[in-house]
Parts: sequence; structure tokens; C-alpha cells
Amino acid sequence: MNSELATAVILDIEKIRKDFPLLQTKVYGKPLVYLDNAATTQKPFMVLQALDDYYARYNSNVHRGVHYLSQQATEAYEVARRKVAAYINALHEHEIIFTKGTTNSINLVASSFGRKFLKPGDEVLISAMEHHSNIVPWQMICEEKGAILKVIPINDQGELRMERFDELLTDKVKIVAVTYVSNSLGTVNPVQEIIQKAHAAGIPVLLDCAQAIQHIPVNIQELDADFLAFSGHKIYGPTGIGVLYGKERWLDEMPPYEGGGDMIKNVTFAKTTYNELPFKFEAGTPDIAGSIVLGVAIDYIQKTGLAAIRQTEEDVLNYAYNRLAAIPSLRFIGNARQRSGAISFLVGNIHPFDMGELLDKQSIAVRTGHHCTQPVMDFFKIPGTVRASFAFYNTRPEVDALVKGIEKARQMLD
Ligand code: ALA
Repeated sequence: MNSELATAVILDIEKIRKDFPLLQTKVYGKPLVYLDNAATTQKPFMVLQALDDYYARYNSNVHRGVHYLSQQATEAYEVARRKVAAYINALHEHEIIFTKGTTNSINLVASSFGRKFLKPGDEVLISAMEHHSNIVPWQMICEEKGAILKVIPINDQGELRMERFDELLTDKVKIVAVTYVSNSLGTVNPVQEIIQKAHAAGIPVLLDCAQAIQHIPVNIQELDADFLAFSGHKIYGPTGIGVLYGKERWLDEMPPYEGGGDMIKNVTFAKTTYNELPFKFEAGTPDIAGSIVLGVAIDYIQKTGLAAIRQTEEDVLNYAYNRLAAIPSLRFIGNARQRSGAISFLVGNIHPFDMGELLDKQSIAVRTGHHCTQPVMDFFKIPGTVRASFAFYNTRPEVDALVKGIEKARQMLD
């Protein structure tokens, strides 16, 4: 535990919950127990108001107009970029590219980096616990360029086999792309070690931070990753907006991902020259509202305090883990020493979908299935899991409700 965390306080959750209108909802007449935060988080009033405010007061296109509204929108859009840069401690604001989400950010890097730097026989190194969004874009570019996708395996605990990483990190590897936190297992990976070792071999690293950015302080200059991707909607912001951080030196060298307005300096039918960073990678009208409101979601997190958020989440996660562990015939899928956010499990012979449906009928929202990590399910030889994923607004009584719901389902089905 770091010293910041050691001094952090547990948040007053009942007070916090009043910030989130959806948490007051009833499902089937009973209070909603929302444990699907790894899929998407709920939004505080501040965020909802900022969205309304943008469309009601200064909706206008950015970087295009001299008129008052356009200047207001442009200023707010660029302020949001500065907030994101500050949140992850990026060296330059222009290293922050607004995208549609993590998937879009990774596709951008796979396509653009791949077109420039991959050649036949080169290797891309990912891990066996990646979300499909950090597998398929690499498969696509490897197929196009004749490159080879290599995979760091996992062990039965759902941790990376780092001794295999060391062996796989040969001079054929042109990029390593791994997740910081597994969405289906909750494993927190030793990303600092991965980055250091890859850099020692001169290889850049992309970090999928979709499940990390809302739980763990990410200081990109300290971590020194070359690319980082995350989504707005998992960090209490809106859907449809995401972030790609890229080191200036890579983004400068990479070709544009999409062509269109705003990403150009000059266009003739003979030749087009491209705009400078970050605009080179932001073709067309961006999600102006989404970016501004993502900035407000970051304000909300900073006002609440990420250290306190983390402490509060650890408390509820540990409580959930201990209570679930006491359920007969429940087995955890993934039992990593370092974990965050999500707990995956199966109960007896109950199919995860059946468990999910019965929990739903008790107004408990969990996710079931393969969680877009089919290779993880193949590794454990299971069709899927039940996943409870937590945010700082989840309470111990909600965990008790989950446990009671599972017990009820077990009596009915197992
Ligand atoms: N990637 C999201 C999840 O894990 C949707 O649920």
C-alpha cells in the first residue's frame, strides 16, 4: 500500500450515492444493486448537467468558426484535453487524442503503427487475458503485414506467466500491447516491469487502461508507456468518447488513421499535407460534448479523491471476496494476488446465464458470459463466468444482497 493510500479515508458512501440519480432506481420494485461497473459506470449529476449545459448554452463546432459560440466550444474542448493530460500527467497536451473509446484507440495504434513499422516476420506481443479489442485489431494488421501475433500465457490463478514473457520478448517483437487490469479476471498486471523490460529491448508498449484508469492512479511519465487507451464511460463520463495517449515521438512518425476535415494543413488534388498533433488523428467533427463532459467526470473524481476512491473500493472488494468465498460450491475464476474492480466466479454446475437471470430478478445487475475474453474462457475450459464488478458507490449491504441472491439461486438450481 502506498503512503497516499494509507492515509486515504473511506468515503461516506450514502452521501456519494446521492450524486448518482440512477442508483436511486428500483428494478422489479426493489432497489437496484448495480454490480456491472466494469461494463459501464453510472454518472453523477455534475456530468449530466454538463452535458445538458453544453447543448443548451454553447453547442457549436470546434476549430472552425470565428464566431463566439465556436470559440467557446473550442476553448472548452481544449480545456478538456488539458484535464485529461493533467489526470494522467502527460508531458504534452498534444499527446492526448480524443477517440470514440478504448477499442477505437487501440485500432488507431494497431493500424497506424502497424502500417508504418510492421513488416513480414515481425511479431506483436499481447497477453492471453486481453479483451477482444486488444486482440482483433492486432490480428487484422498482422494479417495485412505478414506479421505474427504472439501471446504471453497465464497461469491457473489468472496471472501473467512472466518467465514466458521474458522468453517471448525477442528482437522480432515490434510492440507489446497488454492490459493493466483484466476485465474478466480482475488481475492487476505488473505493467511497470513489462514496460521496463520491453524498453530495455527497445520495444514500445501499449497499455489498455480501460479497467485501470477509474481505480488506480496512472502517471504516464512515471510508467513511461508509449501508448495508453481508456474509455470515458468507465470513468463516470459519457459513452462514445475515449482517449489515446501516445508519446509525441511515435505519434509524429505514425501516419494518420482517418482522413477528413481538421486533420489536414493543406489539400489539393495532387497532395495533402497533414495537421500537427493532436489534430492529425482527429478527423471530422469530434465528440465535442463527450470530451467536455469527460473533463467534468475527471473533475468529479478529483473532487472525490482517487486515493479515497481506491481505499473505498478495496474495502468493498475485500468484503465481497470474503463473503463469496464462504458460499459452498462457489469457485473463483482468477485468483490473482493483485486484483482490482471485478470478481468472476461460478457456482456448482449452474450456468452463468441462469445465475445472471435469477440475480436480475432479484434486482441485482451483474454481467455473465465470456466478457469479450473468449481465450480466457477457453483456458479455464468454461463457457463463461458471473462477474460482479465494483465502484466506490457500492456498499457492503449490496454485497450481502448479492450473496443472498446467489444462495437463493443455488437452492433453486444446484
Ligand atoms: N469491456 C466491458 C466489460 O468488460 C464492456 O464489460
